[in-house]
Amino acid sequence: MGKVIAKGVLMNQTISRAPGKARAAAALLFTALFLLSAAPAEAQKGPAGAAQIYEASCAICHGPTGKGDGPAAAKMPVKVGDLADCTAMAKVVDTRLFRVIKEGAAAATKGSPLMVAWGQKYSDAEIRSLVSYIRGFCRGKR
Ligand code: HEC
Repeated sequence: MGKVIAKGVLMNQTISRAPGKARAAAALLFTALFLLSAAPAEAQKGPAGAAQIYEASCAICHGPTGKGDGPAAAKMPVKVGDLADCTAMAKVVDTRLFRVIKEGAAAATKGSPLMVAWGQKYSDAEIRSLVSYIRGFCRGKR
């Protein structure tokens, strides 16, 4: 993190030599880029990885507690499903959850293409950690 901040400061010093409005615009752009580049580096660290991935990529549809009530869910033509429903989740094995996340629901279970494949974006280890994170919803742990 220290290194990244140093890089940001260096960039801002370079920018301060440019004239007026352009300088302000460039500073804003660099600040935005700097924030964007710092965020994923933070997200990859530590044991909270699965929670951060879930927040970043899944909660928009599945909701913060897995109930299928994310902001994008209401507009979907299919039900997102309740990952916190213990009765329903007890019938689903981990390998199925893994495959749906990795390959997408259309390929894995002939389900909806709205549940896209995440195998390009996340490693098998990350997907396994997502599966165990999702299991926590039923226990009311999240
Ligand atoms: C654009 C909305 C959207 C996003 C983003 C999304 N999902 Fe889904 N997900 C769905 C929908 C819709 C279904 C139901 C698919 C069906 O019924 O065929 C689903 C189903 C699932 C299931 C149920 C599998 C089963 O068949 O029992 C799991 C587990 C799941 N998603 C995990 C995730 C994870 C983990 C992420 C983030 C990496 C994620 N989803 C991101 C929409 C989404």
